[in-house]
Amino acid sequence: MSTELYLRKRAEEVSGALPVFVSRLRGAQPRLAEAMTYTLAAGGKRLRPVLMGAAYEIFGGRARDILPAACALEMVHTYSLVHDDLPAMDDDDLRRGRPTCHKVYGEALAVLAGDALLTDSFTVLLSSRYPARVKPAFLLKAASVLAARAGARGMVSGQAADLEAEGFLDAKLTPARRRKGLGLLSYIHLHKTADLLTAAVEMGAALAGAPERDFRALSAFGRELGLCFQVADDILDVVGDKKKLGKSGSDARNRKLTYASLLGVEEARRRAEGLMSRSLARLAKVSGAEAPKKALAGIADFVYRREN
Ligand code: IPE
Ligand code: IPE
Ligand code: MG
Ligand code: MG
Ligand code: MG
Repeated sequence: MSTELYLRKRAEEVSGALPVFVSRLRGAQPRLAEAMTYTLAAGGKRLRPVLMGAAYEIFGGRARDILPAACALEMVHTYSLVHDDLPAMDDDDLRRGRPTCHKVYGEALAVLAGDALLTDSFTVLLSSRYPARVKPAFLLKAASVLAARAGARGMVSGQAADLEAEGFLDAKLTPARRRKGLGLLSYIHLHKTADLLTAAVEMGAALAGAPERDFRALSAFGRELGLCFQVADDILDVVGDKKKLGKSGSDARNRKLTYASLLGVEEARRRAEGLMSRSLARLAKVSGAEAPKKALAGIADFVYRREN
């Protein structure tokens, strides 16, 4: 099966389950529930939940066993997008091929929809049923991974640093400033993006009760893959087809510090390729079933070559 087909099939399972979880949140205020479902249902690659399922399968079991956990991570990711698009942040009008959440529901409800997606990701993660092989201790580890990677030591700090670095390139680019920019960028990418991709494979491994050595190797794979993913995102913001991307690209308007703006698109591409190879080297150190490992390797290649 090609990686594209694998991704499409796995993504469909996730997309089918997501609105069901939101509809189970009985008592949710109707318009809030609508705003939550709006961005969730708009599509997206579902890369993080698919990564989680594949990581889990390396250690036995089926991805669908952990669908609630996979959907919980997609809820966190989607909340990060809803807030990222707000006027106070990147001020974007288009997401996943549709007007952004705040364009449709207003800024206040978009903030609240993000809040609820984040908080109720833990409801979905912790109140759902799993097969007996997912022991309570495994679920607890997955929950603490999610909290840590999404929170103040993780994604949120990456977003804060990303905002603080706006306008960094307005000043003259001396060699020292270029070095400083590279340092800032590694921090930004590590946290705003790589943390949630790392969480995906770490949660899959945690739920399967993977040996510590494999957990660490997969975590390193997730980090390199996440870094590669964000370099590709920065490049696509400049050269990507906006229709395929489903977003309009706002890095230049926001004077963002990105690999493309600091180093140029060609050098950024070389970096992305290096990160992709490094992710594959990390993956090779994981022991377990070969088919899901192959799927993860295919996804790494996709992340590097992707057009959306
Ligand atoms: C976009 O993530 C935000 C970044 C971390 C760059 P994705 O490119 O995975 O967005 P969707 O989920 O496919 O819409
Ligand atoms: C967003 O990075 C990362 C998170 C939402 C955590 P970007 O701002 O580059 O993402 P896009 O390009 O808007 O999807
Ligand atoms: Mg942003
Ligand atoms: Mg953005
Ligand atoms: Mg971007």
